[in-house]
Amino acid sequence: MAEILIAPSILSADFAAMGEAVKNLEKWHADWVHCDVMDGEFVPNITFGMPMVEALDRNTGLFLDVHLMIVKPERYVERFVKAGADLVTFHPEASEDAFGTIEKIKSAGAKAGIVLNPDIPCDVAEKFVDKVDVIMLMGVFPGFGGQKFIPEVMDKISVLKEMTKGKDVLVELDGGVTLENAPEMVRRGLDVMVAGNAVFKAADPCEAIACLKTGRTSL
Ligand code: DX5
Ligand code: ZN
Repeated sequence: MAEILIAPSILSADFAAMGEAVKNLEKWHADWVHCDVMDGEFVPNITFGMPMVEALDRNTGLFLDVHLMIVKPERYVERFVKAGADLVTFHPEASEDAFGTIEKIKSAGAKAGIVLNPDIPCDVAEKFVDKVDVIMLMGVFPGFGGQKFIPEVMDKISVLKEMTKGKDVLVELDGGVTLENAPEMVRRGLDVMVAGNAVFKAADPCEAIACLKTGRTSL
């Protein structure tokens, strides 16, 4: 089994020092950088857009995982890819044409993924499984970092791992990851783990990333 990839969410980093945050992520052996884009409409919070992704891309060689929590993502996906996104994920219910959105992301040259909120069943992913590179499960309702993981989501990891068996699709989980619940996610075969507070608010973020990867529960 391949080692799990860790994608720290810069939503939990210092917004006045993003260049430093991504440089640190390289030093701390993070695999991806998770960028949370919120529009104040799909979710009740506003974060940042293409200029931030473009600035991060200039400051790091790490893979940029851009999570769009916006209404009608099809309007902007090409511009996010142009800004440097390596993967663009979006919530299909927010799009008027989810398949067209996936095509747009891929034709622009990035990997594409869909995101399932905690109350959306895994069946919804079936029609997308042969079209996407990533299926991401939300462990919390999106909008804010530092929320508590919804335990029912744990079983969905196993359901999606079964659904994607033998396919070139990664299963990612975003929201509520801690050193305590991460080992169970690793055991269930999760491919990519997003972690905001668990990394950036840790006393030793480098150690926290090592713990998340190896299933150690204390720093
Ligand atoms: C939630 C965001 C998450 C969040 C994760 O709306 O999509 O990526 O930043 O933060 P933690 O790991 O602190 O729950
Ligand atoms: Zn996210």
